[in-house]
Amino acid sequence: MRIGIIGAGQLGQMLGFAAEELGIECEFLDPSEHPPAAECGHVIRAAFDDADAIEQLAANNDIVTYEFENVPVAALERLGETVPVYPPPAALRHAQDRLAEKQLFASLGIPLAAFHVIDGRDDIDVALEQLGLPLVIKTRRLGYDGKGQFVIREKPQADDAWDELGGQLLIAEQWVPFDYEVSVIGVRNVDGDTALYPLTRNVHRNGILHTSCAPADAPLLTELGSDYMRRLLDHLDYVGVLALELFVVGDSLLANEFAPRVHNSGHWTIEGAATSQFSNHLLAISNKSPGSTALRGHAGMLNLIGTIPAAARATKSGNLHDYGKEPREGRKLGHITVVADSAEQRDQLLAAIADCVT
Ligand SMILES: Nc1ncnc2c1ncn2[C@@H]1O[C@H](COP(=O)(O)OP(=O)(O)O)[C@@H](O)[C@H]1O
Ligand SMILES: [Mg+2]
Repeated sequence: MRIGIIGAGQLGQMLGFAAEELGIECEFLDPSEHPPAAECGHVIRAAFDDADAIEQLAANNDIVTYEFENVPVAALERLGETVPVYPPPAALRHAQDRLAEKQLFASLGIPLAAFHVIDGRDDIDVALEQLGLPLVIKTRRLGYDGKGQFVIREKPQADDAWDELGGQLLIAEQWVPFDYEVSVIGVRNVDGDTALYPLTRNVHRNGILHTSCAPADAPLLTELGSDYMRRLLDHLDYVGVLALELFVVGDSLLANEFAPRVHNSGHWTIEGAATSQFSNHLLAISNKSPGSTALRGHAGMLNLIGTIPAAARATKSGNLHDYGKEPREGRKLGHITVVADSAEQRDQLLAAIADCVT
């Protein structure tokens, strides 16, 4: 079995490590000089929108998947006529546009924050009128790690938001005074066999994921999140790993966004679950039964951003994953996972490591 993966970043690298264990060969497509996944397989060095290179990847492999979301959907759809492409390009089409994504949530009865499409400067005033303050303006496309967002806290800032983001497709979102954030990670194979990981509790700093902990101690929310995940998986006839980010407000969940790929908030599954999200993605797209998503304990993950301090390398209580990337401010360079017998112990271990490395 040979799998072609568009993107050779850390997600590709961790897919590559899982593939080695499953006896699957991987080839990657990525424009970078020394991408993290290069140690796991051959890399076709080309732009993500290079149609010839994408076709070459398809010709060399049995199945094509992607770990990077900004791939032209039309190119994937064309490929899909000759080789299986998973997750289905229609899922990616929704994920690439926050408006389409929100409309999908709404059509499936999945609750979400009120929003308003921004086509011109005046629309921000209408959104302020209807949705109130604070108001989050987001680019509809290409946003990640909190980039392409502006939070209007006072009305005069509407001009600043427009100066910064105007000229792109935009959407305004009501501010959600959430209690905390969670994600659900699900996996579905070609036959529709589905498995879900327990609800994960996430903390973001400056729009970037900081820590993830699983299981979130919230049975009712877990049931609700699982229900929303299953609606998405089934509606999209989804194949592979899907991640859904949600806001917790009291006893309810509001969907924020989804990612049709393996996800940072699921990195804890490498040590913390019987089968990692990476193995499960590969199993699902090759139409094998999903592996057990049972927990091996109380898991926590801390992202290492901008630098991997010596203390992170010295830690004995956690598992360091160094993606081998050049340090740069705001860049995800690695993560540390801890697995403990209790939530208290997990939280203590994670806090101690966080104290040393941040
Ligand atoms: N409407 C909102 N209300 C409150 N916080 C928000 C809202 N939208 C985004 N955020 C915060 O910003 C983070 C990043 O936003 P998100 O929409 O997930 O974009 P990205 O694609 O960059 O991850 C969220 O995880 C959350 O912490
Ligand atoms: Mg997000």
